Amino acid sequence: MSTKPTTTIRIDLDVKRRASEVFDEIGISMSAAINTFLKAVAREGTIPFDIMTERPKLNSKPGNATLNRAFIVKKDEFYTQYDDVAKEMVRHREQLKGKTILCNCDDPFESAFFRFFALHFDKLGLTRLISTCYDDSSIAGQEYPLEGVTGAYKAVVTEVPDEPLERPDGSLDLESLFAMPGNSLDHLVGDGDFRSDECIALLEEADIVATNPPFSLFREYITLLGRHEKDFIIVGNMNAATTKEVFPLFRDNKVWYGESIRSGDRKFHVPDSYPLNAASCGVDESGRRFIRVKGVRWFTNLETSMRHEPITLTRLYTPDEYPRYENYDAINVGRTQNIPVDYDGIMGVPITFLDKYSPDQFEIVMLANGNARTNVSSKILKKVRYRAHTEDRGGVGIINGRRVYARILIRRKSS
Ligand SMILES: C[S@@+](CC[C@H](N)C(=O)[O-])C[C@H]1O[C@@H](n2cnc3c(N)ncnc32)[C@H](O)[C@@H]1O
Repeated sequence: MSTKPTTTIRIDLDVKRRASEVFDEIGISMSAAINTFLKAVAREGTIPFDIMTERPKLNSKPGNATLNRAFIVKKDEFYTQYDDVAKEMVRHREQLKGKTILCNCDDPFESAFFRFFALHFDKLGLTRLISTCYDDSSIAGQEYPLEGVTGAYKAVVTEVPDEPLERPDGSLDLESLFAMPGNSLDHLVGDGDFRSDECIALLEEADIVATNPPFSLFREYITLLGRHEKDFIIVGNMNAATTKEVFPLFRDNKVWYGESIRSGDRKFHVPDSYPLNAASCGVDESGRRFIRVKGVRWFTNLETSMRHEPITLTRLYTPDEYPRYENYDAINVGRTQNIPVDYDGIMGVPITFLDKYSPDQFEIVMLANGNARTNVSSKILKKVRYRAHTEDRGGVGIINGRRVYARILIRRKSS
């Protein structure tokens, strides 16, 4: 019998339902999620996110909604490090040549994206660089070079000066850049929302979109890029890969991970108002606050050679080592590198499989998580011989009566 005490808590029904959807996608139970939260509070001696963060435009509601909103707002203001941008972009230099690059959800005066593309404009052979910022951003406008003017704006660069753009103190010589006849810096009519008509018009002009979009709107953002058939290289969290909007893109080879980030955590700059109350936060040599975030990946549809490298497999199948699910006609594989080399049926692998996935080696069939029953077509559910189990919460794999984590069901491609 468990020695852990049982606690009853009252939760708003709607909050419970929405939170359950998120936990199901991640593949953890409500109880595990609450335990994780309580452990973080115990470890850090405080609530591990800023419950006071509020922004006037957001119309926040009181209570739990405010708390959720505050958590989201904080994650929307993580600014990508220059090295992370540079390391990924150089891998796509051939694809960037001659292109119009759009960095929306950005800020030409704060963003590492604008900085990288402006500094390498000629070297990469870019045709145009467009950067827009959001009026609501807590750091946009702070470095604005035109006195007394703030708000949402767009920067367009079609040429760069012959003299170095970077000053000895590391700042960009924006006055010289925007004094060039082909370049401009203008206010947007609206607030710079990527969904606004004027931002969509800029999206239409772009060949490739490169940015780190707001965390809370990632699914909507990537869906919009798909609708406009854009090439993109954007920062996101691997949790997004399991959502009903993004997973089908991986399955259908319309998106994959970029090459440069496949493990560990990444450092992001955060606004000066960001509380430094978590172990993952700090202040760097330049005095800027940062946070380290796990599970960060580049999401792209720009071709990479890495995604065609097959996984080297050495294990052989045995029924003991690879148990079958009770609700799917598939075996469970605990770690990607343990995929048996000689098994041709359907296998359930962890979400981290996407880091190694080669579409030449495997076919992705579906995601077996708590939303499988609603998100997956009956044809595919039939193909994997899914049968509902009382414990499977909508489609999580069951072994010996217990739920496993969310699994990607894959099948080897015949060679
Ligand atoms: C994660 S930050 C990344 C900023 C920048 N791209 C970078 O990586 O350095 C996302 C940015 O999108 C902005 N943003 C939030 N909601 C937005 C929206 N609806 N439309 C456009 N930008 C938005 C935020 O204010 C923030 O500046």
